[in-house]
Amino acid sequence: MAPDVAVGLGPLKLSTPLIAASGTVGSVWEWATVAELEHYGAAVAKSVSPEPWAGRQPPRVAPTRVGMLNGIGIQNPGIDSWINEVSPQLRGLETSVWGSAVAEDVSGFVAVAQGLERAGMSAVEINLSCPNLEDGALFSFSAQRSAEVIAEVSEAVSLPVGAKLSPNTPDIVGVARACAESGADFLVLTNTALGFGIDIITRKPLLSGGVGGYSGPGIKPLSLRCVHEVHQALPDVQIVGCGGVMTGRDIIEYVIAGANAVAAGTLHFSEPNAGRRLIAELKAEMGRLDVEQLSSIRGSVGQW
Ligand SMILES: Cc1cc2nc3c(=O)[nH]c(=O)nc-3n(C[C@H](O)[C@H](O)[C@H](O)COP(=O)(O)O)c2cc1C
Repeated sequence: MAPDVAVGLGPLKLSTPLIAASGTVGSVWEWATVAELEHYGAAVAKSVSPEPWAGRQPPRVAPTRVGMLNGIGIQNPGIDSWINEVSPQLRGLETSVWGSAVAEDVSGFVAVAQGLERAGMSAVEINLSCPNLEDGALFSFSAQRSAEVIAEVSEAVSLPVGAKLSPNTPDIVGVARACAESGADFLVLTNTALGFGIDIITRKPLLSGGVGGYSGPGIKPLSLRCVHEVHQALPDVQIVGCGGVMTGRDIIEYVIAGANAVAAGTLHFSEPNAGRRLIAELKAEMGRLDVEQLSSIRGSVGQW
């Protein structure tokens, strides 16, 4: 039988396990002009805040030997403009679009999530892990702060809610548990890792903001570790694995570690239409491994 790549993620049904990660496919509609969205189970728009955010000064992105650094500072028009100007462009796309909320306090997250629901998004990710906020504090470093946000947002919207965490979270299982107990329908593991680079001529950081987010193949072991540890401790929690996905095999690795679905980000900068190749590779690997459904191998990692 041909492999079936459809997966479930909590209340959501995805036609493929592949999700386009927030911030790496713009607001989705622009990217849809160069990508075949039918290969994606969902695509996540760039994070939106309650008010407009200007973002950081350039340089905001820098290549590294493996992957990249970014310190965009979540430039976005704010939720009101986003609803008026961006969301109308998202109708009729060939995959479901999720929104992503970022804010500096609980009420801000709630306001953005409600706006994203009004705008017709299929789910909302709560970005508890952006490394580019001015005070440097990440909600996802604290189980209590994360739980407060997720509890209030889950109460305020009927959309499926995902909590996106940082691979630098000191107690990833504790924060994951707090989010799940507060009503998160799924977790996204993970956002970028904290990273830093230096230009030896100017002796300045590669990014204007100094420390930024490191992404791409170099973080796959970090994100995979988070997926593995959370799945081992909390097997019923639904997980989107994210970090360094470059091939169909990477998707399978994440599923074996415990992910229900898998997001790819940085890859889209060099290969905007990566979904076609990834799903073809995934199906070929599933055929080789004699796997008909991904759910049959989820969390099946063995021990030595
Ligand atoms: C340039 C850039 C911008 C990003 N912007 C966001 C964002 O707005 N919201 C968010 O939740 N994640 C954002 N991310 C993180 C990605 O969604 C993803 O979690 C991370 O890059 C790890 O996956 P990857 O290694 O496949 O890129 C951004 C990543 C990059 C590289």
